[in-house]
Amino acid sequence: MSVKKSSPALPSVLQKAHRVVERVLRHGDVAVDATVGNGRDTVALARSVGRDGRVVGFDVQEAALRRARKRLRENELADRVALVRRGHEAMRDELAERGHRRIRAAAFNLGYLPGGDHAVITRPETTVPALDAAAAMLEEGGLITVVCYAGHAGGAEETRAVSEWTEQLSQERFHALSYRFVNQKNDPPRLFVVEKLK
Ligand SMILES: C[S@@+](CC[C@H](N)C(=O)[O-])C[C@H]1O[C@@H](n2cnc3c(N)ncnc32)[C@H](O)[C@@H]1O
Repeated sequence: MSVKKSSPALPSVLQKAHRVVERVLRHGDVAVDATVGNGRDTVALARSVGRDGRVVGFDVQEAALRRARKRLRENELADRVALVRRGHEAMRDELAERGHRRIRAAAFNLGYLPGGDHAVITRPETTVPALDAAAAMLEEGGLITVVCYAGHAGGAEETRAVSEWTEQLSQERFHALSYRFVNQKNDPPRLFVVEKLK
């Protein structure tokens, strides 16, 4: 008799973020990785937009962009991704300069670069304007995902700011929800998902 090995039915916060975005991205779409870091999210977005799609990725650290560039090359996805050394608060200008007025998805994975300088963190004063820009450019049916980590210095404050930002969105124009394991120790990460309705 074969024993079926089961994996948990509930996806992790990062798995959930990837799955919801994969569901809405179609080949040829434009997507934004607002925090490139090591490039794992960038790779996932680049796969989903296909050969004719585009991903624009932002990070303020060259070390992050270097790692992401390598990962994209290894996955043969570099040709559909533009990596920009600029804060995500410049999203609207950067996209306009590239001729993109609309986006289908924007992924934010906040905090510091794993394996990098932990002093360089995302901050509410730039994260919230970037979320405003992403929401303004989002197509109908498009999504914003935000993964927040409350456990590091400044993380709780930023999580609160993101939560408040999602709560003030008009329910006629957006669906917004959060996903979080409530019985995990040490401030588990929290995902916010925003869908543009009209
Ligand atoms: C948690 S990491 C991102 C992880 C990444 N998505 C991955 O798949 O590996 C957060 C990143 O945000 C970057 N960051 C900090 N401030 C930023 C800003 N204003 N705009 C864009 N990126 C920023 C950091 O340099 C860091 O690399």
